[in-house]
Amino acid sequence: MRILRLGSDPRSAAAAILAVAVQCWACGGGNSSPVNPTPTPTPTPTPSDTLKAAATSANRLVGTAVQSRLLTGQYDTVVGREFTYITAEYEMKWNIHEPSSGFFDFAAGDAIVGYALSHGQRVKGHTFIWHGATPSWVNSLSPADFRIAFERHIRTVAEHYRGRIHAWDVVNEAVADDGLGLRDTVFRQKLGDSYIADAFRIARAADPAARLFYNDYGGEGLSQKANRIYDLVRELLAAGVPIDGVGLQMHISANSRPPNASIASNMRRLAELGLAVHISEMDVRVNGVSGSPQVRLEAQRLAYYDVVKLCIGEPGCEAVTFWGFTDAHTWINGDTPLLFDAQYAPKPAYTGVLDALRGR
Ligand code: XIL
Repeated sequence: MRILRLGSDPRSAAAAILAVAVQCWACGGGNSSPVNPTPTPTPTPTPSDTLKAAATSANRLVGTAVQSRLLTGQYDTVVGREFTYITAEYEMKWNIHEPSSGFFDFAAGDAIVGYALSHGQRVKGHTFIWHGATPSWVNSLSPADFRIAFERHIRTVAEHYRGRIHAWDVVNEAVADDGLGLRDTVFRQKLGDSYIADAFRIARAADPAARLFYNDYGGEGLSQKANRIYDLVRELLAAGVPIDGVGLQMHISANSRPPNASIASNMRRLAELGLAVHISEMDVRVNGVSGSPQVRLEAQRLAYYDVVKLCIGEPGCEAVTFWGFTDAHTWINGDTPLLFDAQYAPKPAYTGVLDALRGR
C-alpha cells in the first residue's frame, strides 16, 4: 500500500482514507488476483495479549534469536513486547567471540545479554562448539594446542557471562546427517569423540548455574538421526556428564514436516531421561507449499500451532524459540518463515503460536 501524506484539513484526511480504502478494495496484496484476496490481517496485539503473557501463563519460555545491530526501532519494540527468552543469532559463536587466538570480543554478546536482562528476559547462550562457526586459526593447531584452545575458549566465554545465562548450547550439530555416527569435524579430528563430554564438563565447571544443552537439527521427529541423538545424550548421562537438556532446532517446511505424533514421542523419550527439551530455532518455510498466499499462510499457521501445542503438552518442554521473528530478517533467503511479516505485522503464524500457548 502506498503511504499518503494526510493534510491538516480533516476533509482532505477523510478523502485520503477513502482513497486508500477504494484503492485497496481489490488490491489483494501486491500482485495477487481477485481470486486471492488479501488474508484478513491479524490485529496488532495489545501488551496483555502477547506471546510473552501467554507463555508466562503456560509456564513456558518463548524466545527469539536476535542480532545486536537490529535492536532499535520496531524490531526492539517487538522483541521487548513479545519474548521472554533471547538467543544471539550468531554473535556468541566462537568465530565472533575469539576471532584470533586469545583475543576475545564480547561487545555484541554483552549488548544482547544486557538488552535481555534489562527487559526481564532470559538468555540462551549459543554456542560454544559448532563446526559452522569455528575460526580458521584453530585448524592449524596441533592436537595438544587445539585442546588448550578448546578448553580456554569454553572456560573464558562461560566465565565472562556467568550469572547472566539461563542455558548454554554447549555443543551444536555433532551428529552426522545420516545418523550413523558423529559428524566429521575439526573437534573430532583433533580431540576424538570424547570432545563432547569434555565440552560439557568444562562448561559446568566454568558456570555451574547455567543449564547445559545439546542442540541439533533433523532429529525433531523419530528418525535414525533422532535415535543417534537420543543414544548420545543417554550415553552422556550414563557416564555422569553434566547435561540438562536437548534443543530440537525445528527448521521445517510447512509441506514436509515430521508428524506431530513422532515429535511428541521423541520429546517424551528425551524427557523420560530426565532432560529438558527446548524447541530451539523454529522457523517454517512456505515456498514449497503450492496454492494461494492464504493457503501458504494457513499451512504455516498450522505448523507453528502444532509444534507449540506439542511443547505445551509435554511437561519436559520448557521453551520454544523462533529463529528470528520478522521476515525482514531471516537466515532463509527468499522465503517468509517467521511470525511477523517484513513490515512487522503479525501473520496468521503469530495467531497460531498465541492460540497454542493459550491452550486453545
Ligand atoms: C545461522 C544464522 O542464522 C546465520 O545468521 C549465520 O550466518 C549462520 O548460522 N543452526 C544453528 C544456528 O544452530 O546457529 C544457525 O544460525 C542456523 C542453523
